[in-house]
Amino acid sequence: MTVSLTKLTSSKKNRQKVTSTSIGSNYPEAAIVAEGIEMTFESGKQYYQVLRGIDLVIKSGDIQLLMGPSGSGKTTLLSILAGLLTPTEGQVYLLEQEITRMSREKLARYRLENVGFIFQGFNLFPALTAAENVELVLNYKGITRGVARKQAQLLLEQVELGSSYVNQKPSELSGGQKQRVAIARALAGNPKLIMADEPTAALDSQSGHNVIQLLRTLAKEQGCTVLMVTHDPRIIDVADRVAYLEDGVLKK
Ligand SMILES: Nc1ncnc2c1ncn2[C@@H]1O[C@H](COP(=O)(O)OP(=O)(O)OP(=O)(O)O)[C@@H](O)[C@H]1O
Ligand SMILES: [Mg+2]
Repeated sequence: MTVSLTKLTSSKKNRQKVTSTSIGSNYPEAAIVAEGIEMTFESGKQYYQVLRGIDLVIKSGDIQLLMGPSGSGKTTLLSILAGLLTPTEGQVYLLEQEITRMSREKLARYRLENVGFIFQGFNLFPALTAAENVELVLNYKGITRGVARKQAQLLLEQVELGSSYVNQKPSELSGGQKQRVAIARALAGNPKLIMADEPTAALDSQSGHNVIQLLRTLAKEQGCTVLMVTHDPRIIDVADRVAYLEDGVLKK
């Protein structure tokens, strides 16, 4: 396993400053623009720089892959691009909207309306059933209970979770079944951006293929932009672009 941590001895003050520009509006066809992203984690008196000056433009409707060795910072970058993590430096624009300086409440609302996120560890609510995990997102989006229930059933059918599992809690589901629920939840309410952290890792070959086809259909027929972290070589064939992250730097 390659671990790309660099121990920094410098203080926060010494870090390079990236100047802010209006880059987001310079790429009218872009769904995601990142400029000068740096990420340093602090642990005690030590700093670990994980991302170093990432610039990335992802075109609307594209399927963009992010690949790279374990520990290279893929999940960190995806979390920053989704607004789940604030970078040490740099800006992120989603659909031309700068998110790095948004208030926490505004960002939470913006994310709910625009981004479907599939976490590497699924992040399902353990006390809720599969169907309730999906319904909850729809309820947050203002969809009434009855309609949300029907939509959740349809989404779970789309990701091929057997009907006998929809009322099971995550602890009663296999890894692959949990992954399907996480995908259905990310698709709930038709977000314009889907960010997925290894969405096929826990699926068998056929199910993985079906999920990829589903994401492809969303991108190509509904104009969704899909950003996926993956180690899965089968996905490369359906991708429009692939970026490689190594030692905190993107190699395109
Ligand atoms: N909150 C944190 N605090 C300190 N270090 C962190 C934190 N989150 C991640 N890291 C470190 O940053 C590095 C990159 O982690 P990240 O999860 O982004 O890697 P990854 O490329 O997604 O790896 P994998 O393919 O194994 O999922 C790792 O070495 C990790 O230990
Ligand atoms: Mg990861």
